Amino acid sequence: MATEQFSAVEVIRAKRDGQVLGNEMIDWTIDAYTRGAIAEEQMSALNMAIYFQGMNRSEISRWTNAMINSGERMDFSTLADPSGKHLATTDKHSTGGVGDKITLPLAPLVASFGVAVPQLSGRGLGHTGGTLDKLEAIPGWKAELSNEALFDQLSTVGAVICAAGTGLAPADKKLYALRDVTATVEAIPLIASSIMSKKIAEGTGTLVLDVKVGSGAFMKDEAMSRELAETMVNLGTDAGVNTVALLTNMETPLGLTAGNAIEVEESVEVLAGGGPQDVIELTVALATEMLAGAGIKDVDVAGALKNGQAMDVWRKMIAAQGGDPDAKLPVAKESHTVVAPAEGVLLKLDAMDIGLAAWTLGAGRARKEDSVQAGAGVRMHVKPGALVRRGEPIATLLTDTPEKMERAIELVQRAIMVGSADDRPDTRLILDRIAAK
Ligand code: URA
Repeated sequence: MATEQFSAVEVIRAKRDGQVLGNEMIDWTIDAYTRGAIAEEQMSALNMAIYFQGMNRSEISRWTNAMINSGERMDFSTLADPSGKHLATTDKHSTGGVGDKITLPLAPLVASFGVAVPQLSGRGLGHTGGTLDKLEAIPGWKAELSNEALFDQLSTVGAVICAAGTGLAPADKKLYALRDVTATVEAIPLIASSIMSKKIAEGTGTLVLDVKVGSGAFMKDEAMSRELAETMVNLGTDAGVNTVALLTNMETPLGLTAGNAIEVEESVEVLAGGGPQDVIELTVALATEMLAGAGIKDVDVAGALKNGQAMDVWRKMIAAQGGDPDAKLPVAKESHTVVAPAEGVLLKLDAMDIGLAAWTLGAGRARKEDSVQAGAGVRMHVKPGALVRRGEPIATLLTDTPEKMERAIELVQRAIMVGSADDRPDTRLILDRIAAK
């Protein structure tokens, strides 16, 4: 048996005692864990030590690089359109929220300006939805693409939303599964390195991060979200990826839908020049950042969304992956509408409770292997800040499994708070922009 360069116990002890881990120690740790030479219980202890002691910028950067080096790296530097013109690439990552369908209108919108968007996405787990689950509501649409098909579609259509291959940052897959069951997910060095190792391995030229803050977000607290955003921007910048982050409000769901088919429907409304104001605002803000990062400035992004310029790219993008953009989307069998309990201003429509209700109705999954219902979810009729009358519809719950309805109704009722205009909530969507220092 080959002798190991370090022992897991010395790495754990060093971090437990607040020491800075050296580069070689970090490289060895990620490599040894990936090949099974560090036991799960040892890695759990190390994660907990990192949770309490933190990591400095250079440790996080090395840890991220070691995770990138555990797998393959994609390279879009030779990407060109069919005429041979080089195509720049740009990508967006959201830390996850409720009703967050922004990738759907965003990818075709950005591609309609001639910048390629390789959007490698995931499925939902828990109360936040997954982009692939939403698109799978479109009859025929397939999430899995070979690398060759991905390149081909980027070259001819300009936008791809597909499943991330298993070869990207395999160390993260193992580490994330372990963190999930050992209460060590919420550590900024571990979250930042997990997200950024995958994004950097994807090989995009520009990256825009949408870091959510509030009840439906991973981080409820603005200071923590800001620290996460700054850490990820630094990691991207250090790796040569042009990276910026927007801090955005996730106290209430984005748009008026949380589910799968109903979110696709709302995204198509936005692509056709309509749709809810907050979805439009965030799509335009993120597209503007993505295009600016790729060198395209002073263009009318809002006008392009309004005039339907991106719809053509959307239709081609869906069709290229086997979907029928004209197909009727699945509709849930059962519905129930929850109404306002009193007259006044809608002060709150809590993102976490609405996300949990959509999940309970069947739009999300509890375990990775569960399937989701395409038609399930919550359709909202008003947004916080609106004046409502007693008995006015607030949200309609949709499901194919009526036995789930009662629990979901309780959650939606809990999400609603009606009160006086003096307590009108702060409904600002974009809280800050964080760029490299
Ligand atoms: N998403 C990830 O990919 N990793 C984390 O650690 C948290 C969210």
